[in-house]
Amino acid sequence: MSIISKIVVASHNEGKVREIRDLLIPYGVNTLSAAELSLAEPEETELTFTGNAELKASAAAIASGLPSLSDDSGLVVDSLNGDPGIYSARWAEKPKSEGGGRDFSMAMWHVNDLLKLKENRSAHFVCALCLAMPSGKKFTYLGKVEGEIVWPPRGERGFGYDPIFLAEGDVKTFGEMDPSKKHAKSHRARAFEKLILNHF
Ligand code: IMP
Repeated sequence: MSIISKIVVASHNEGKVREIRDLLIPYGVNTLSAAELSLAEPEETELTFTGNAELKASAAAIASGLPSLSDDSGLVVDSLNGDPGIYSARWAEKPKSEGGGRDFSMAMWHVNDLLKLKENRSAHFVCALCLAMPSGKKFTYLGKVEGEIVWPPRGERGFGYDPIFLAEGDVKTFGEMDPSKKHAKSHRARAFEKLILNHF
């Protein structure tokens, strides 16, 4: 049993909350999500994954009075100068005139369109995890998984850009892979290893 028994997952992204919950189950931690607590979603105003993770976790820790864990992550494509990077979620945002919401199929098309004339399709996912305490203390950890962008998208599992990401050494995209296999090697899993080692 860990010292931290209850934690707020500072995210409104269901896919991320689900993965973080799964990753914490073995440590007997009770997870609450920011949406379940009706916490406001702060605007991500920083220019780095780390900065945005710290901003989200601190806001949730202050609002809930509980240790809070945030994840700021995204897809970094080398020949697109690191795009979509910290804007990975924003690339999927639909215009308000079309009802708003997120459309990752559109975002994946956009990535592939920009890559059409490029030879280099290498990319990586990055995850910055921040554990923030109501006292103001913060602990931040980074994880990364290297791979390439494939087309067309493959698989219905996972979320976000998973169907176009093939990790190094794999034949299945993150969208085709059994979730337990993704959890064993993903950017989130690697950042988690560091978090667990230090706090759980
Ligand atoms: P944010 O961290 O809430 O700004 O959003 C990060 C965005 O990056 C997500 O909405 C996804 O589009 C993308 N992303 C992050 N991690 C993953 C992953 O494991 N698989 C697929 N897409 C991801």
